[in-house]
Amino acid sequence: MIIAIDGPAGSGKSSTAREVARRLGFLHLDSGALYRAFAYVACRHGWDEMTGPAAESRVQELADAAITASSAGGRLTVELDDQPIGDEELRTPRVTACASKVSAFPPIRDRVNELLRGLAAGFAGGTVTEGRDMGTVVFPGAELKVYMMAAPEVRAARRLAERAGGGGAGEVSEASIRAESARLVARDLADSERAVAPLRPASDAKLIDTSYLGFEEQVERVVVLARAHLDTG
Ligand code: DC
Repeated sequence: MIIAIDGPAGSGKSSTAREVARRLGFLHLDSGALYRAFAYVACRHGWDEMTGPAAESRVQELADAAITASSAGGRLTVELDDQPIGDEELRTPRVTACASKVSAFPPIRDRVNELLRGLAAGFAGGTVTEGRDMGTVVFPGAELKVYMMAAPEVRAARRLAERAGGGGAGEVSEASIRAESARLVARDLADSERAVAPLRPASDAKLIDTSYLGFEEQVERVVVLARAHLDTG
């Protein structure tokens, strides 16, 4: 069984996908981590912008980078030249900004999609996969598709609290929430207006607005939908 969870940054899809996978004993695939791995390589070359006349040749070189992925222990590990790339390296602001650019190029998307499909096919059990186009492009036949969303200021507050390391959203200033919210909206716009695999819900996705949901409720909604499928399937 494949559960495809899509949605914008901060919608709660990553933490939900991880916990749903844990409860069901499924493999968890974070497709964003793969885009970040290609962005990480681009940054090492100093190709942060990926624009201008040189971009096309860089894209091909980037798509050919020795990025691999494995799913030992039901968890995705992304490697460069057979060495795992750590979460700290994949989640710097520089790599985050570059990942949005890198993910607009079809040769990079093809590599990521190929890695994701290979991992899901090679895993004996079910898979929870999350990103922007899991239900629309990569796994159109997924048995369960979920699209998670939340108001931009809610998503911004969550992200800032997360970065502050466990502090509540109440400790984050209004001004920083507004600034982060504007960044998120700009990134959503870039992700949803791009020509290839834009961010949007699949026509058969279940929509979950997490603005006023707690973490446990988000997880429970997806688990209930998944169990309903497993029981009838
Ligand atoms: O979910 P994230 O923030 O880790 O994703 C990093 C970038 O990769 C983000 O700009 C959107 C892009 N992405 C994508 O285009 N398609 C996906 N399936 C997942 C992520």
